[in-house]
Amino acid sequence: MLGHGVVTPGREDCTRELGRLGLPKDLTGVRVLDIGCSDGFFCFECEQRGADVTGIDDFSTTPLNRGNNGFAIAKKILKSDVQFFQQSIYDLNPESIDLFDVVLFLNVLYHLRHPLLALEIIHRLLRPNGTMYLKTYFHQDFGVSRWGIDVSRRPMMRFFESDELNQDPSNWWAPNRYCLEAMFRSIGFSNIKHLCTYGNRIYYRCLR
Ligand SMILES: C[S@@+](CC[C@H](N)C(=O)[O-])C[C@H]1O[C@@H](n2cnc3c(N)ncnc32)[C@H](O)[C@@H]1O
Repeated sequence: MLGHGVVTPGREDCTRELGRLGLPKDLTGVRVLDIGCSDGFFCFECEQRGADVTGIDDFSTTPLNRGNNGFAIAKKILKSDVQFFQQSIYDLNPESIDLFDVVLFLNVLYHLRHPLLALEIIHRLLRPNGTMYLKTYFHQDFGVSRWGIDVSRRPMMRFFESDELNQDPSNWWAPNRYCLEAMFRSIGFSNIKHLCTYGNRIYYRCLR
């Protein structure tokens, strides 16, 4: 959304995502990190709500180069102060940067070869009681009963060696709900809240 009613075309309506995530309306003074921010919709939205925002993306799944992508154009049009770094999550060092109140980790986990490591890094990047908002593709049919409910409750994650998931070789893992929650607990996240499920995506809010 570029103001004056101008909305860029895209594959999904990000304004609906805001409702699913339930981000606070007022983020005044809150330090937000958006990991895998792509063209920055959530960065700019959080900034407009008062947050001090940093976005990172290594552009491993977006074929666009820094300076020539939607993020740079939107930042200019919106006269935004959001900071952007072309960087992988694995290169963030919690020892050398100020910690964050909120980390957005939206639609990135299943693109990573090392999802548990990434979640550990996020946990260390958050201030005590800081909040992670996570959305990911997830696997729904491990141990499914004839009513379509996962009755096994076993934490499992499916690995995609090649491009089996949506013909996209950047998709590596699909955890089921129990696996996600077990990973959060194992790392030390608390107040794990399943926000909603929409199609093949699942949404969580967790505290450090
Ligand atoms: C499906 S897009 C999601 C974009 C945005 N977060 C959203 O929800 O609309 C995944 C993004 O994660 C980025 N990404 C993938 N692996 C990454 C990594 N290791 N570190 C940082 N960003 C990464 C990709 O380049 C891509 O822009």
